[in-house]
Amino acid sequence: MSRIVIVSNRTPAKGPAAGGLAVALKKVLAERQGFWFGWSGKLTDSPSPTAQIQDVDGLSVAQIDLTRDDHQAYYSGFANSILWPSFHLRLDLTTIESHWYEGYRRVNAQFAAALAKLLRPDDIIWVHDYHLIPLATELRRLGVRNRIGFYLHIPFPTPDALYAIPHHTDLMRDLSHYDLVGMQAKRDIAAFMEFAEHQAPPTFASSANHHVDFSRTEIVAFPIGSDPDAFASLSVSPAAQKMITRMRRSLGDQQLILGVDRLDYSKGLPQRVEAYEKFLAHNASFRRGVHFLQVAPPSRDTIKEYQATSETLDAVCGRVMGKFAEPDWQPLTYVKRAYGQPSLAGLYRLARVGLITPLRDGMNLVAHEYIGSQNPEDPGVLILSRFAGAAEIFPAALQVNPFDTDESAEAIRVALEMGLEERRARYEALMAAARKHNVGDWAEEFLAHLSRKPGDSAPQHDHIYLNSVA
Ligand code: F6P
Repeated sequence: MSRIVIVSNRTPAKGPAAGGLAVALKKVLAERQGFWFGWSGKLTDSPSPTAQIQDVDGLSVAQIDLTRDDHQAYYSGFANSILWPSFHLRLDLTTIESHWYEGYRRVNAQFAAALAKLLRPDDIIWVHDYHLIPLATELRRLGVRNRIGFYLHIPFPTPDALYAIPHHTDLMRDLSHYDLVGMQAKRDIAAFMEFAEHQAPPTFASSANHHVDFSRTEIVAFPIGSDPDAFASLSVSPAAQKMITRMRRSLGDQQLILGVDRLDYSKGLPQRVEAYEKFLAHNASFRRGVHFLQVAPPSRDTIKEYQATSETLDAVCGRVMGKFAEPDWQPLTYVKRAYGQPSLAGLYRLARVGLITPLRDGMNLVAHEYIGSQNPEDPGVLILSRFAGAAEIFPAALQVNPFDTDESAEAIRVALEMGLEERRARYEALMAAARKHNVGDWAEEFLAHLSRKPGDSAPQHDHIYLNSVA
């Protein structure tokens, strides 16, 4: 059986804190004798041409160091100040500096050069996320002929947002050098198809003869999930119970409304707090009977747009506190730190409402974890943004337009007043969908596709499958 090689910007760390994706991929690697390749997390003065291989809890991890300047251009610059905001349709938050693209390509070339030395001819290579779109091109340039797949963990942009990205045609050509490109949702495939069929219109700086040929690449929607049954077990573990006891002591009879997100502008946090503010304003009888907890660990905080989001959130939370808090009642708690999975599972289980309202998002694994952690006898209600890819698989959530804070405020009221029968019916449908899209099957399905030799028939599945889309 071929080895599997996973490539991503970050690599798994030692310890039990790994998320569902890392756990699923580690399992695949353990079964297929493979290794994980990525950045070491170290910034140095000169780039490392060769990877250092180490054992991380029984897993073989190969890592390279990056220079400070390259990392700044590749990660904070091109990946997170151009690709991330554009892919999330926030062109107003992009910063474009043309030299970042050179750094982005340089790092991808450095990854390829160090990785190529470790490859065997029949290894199957699985590249993850928007940091590494050019990796297949760079590997092919070095003569690598292995099967290479790519999975995009964020939404694919609409054509207009794509055209706003410098060198977008080159990036699309990079995608065409993969054998398989996996995306999260049907809408991502639709957006990709729109580009593939029409291609980029010419501008004064680029002519129209840059047609990208995708005829050798399969583009397939593989909606990623979490491990809902693992969260079901975790939510009744002693560590989760400890968190539940602690929270019950402080909440008393108040019902908990919970949000858990990286502190990222795509998550719609200020709008969410504003919706809660409207809910309190319109429903005075609920005051003192509810509490909103937002867990928001800081993220990418060297980037100014992230700092600005953090400041906006501080201000909105302060405003709501000033307007509604009383000496013996606080409407909300806002914690800017990360919690381990057992504590989160406890919070999810206790929360009567899971408030997940990103402005644009992919499959949002917090939604899956919230569902998995519910008490089947007395489940909470998931309020979910219709602009998360997860909305495609969770029609049983209360879906809202996160930009419409009146609608979200009303959804909070409906969720809090929802009777047990309806909550159970919705929970059962949500849990069935979360199980269907569990991360273990997702990884197996992607690899089954990628391992196919040309001419083999396609595996059976119910996802969108586009062969030869050019
Ligand atoms: O959702 C995309 C993603 O890159 C994830 O893969 C990652 O866990 C998360 O964002 C955090 O990103 P970063 O590595 O920039 O902290």
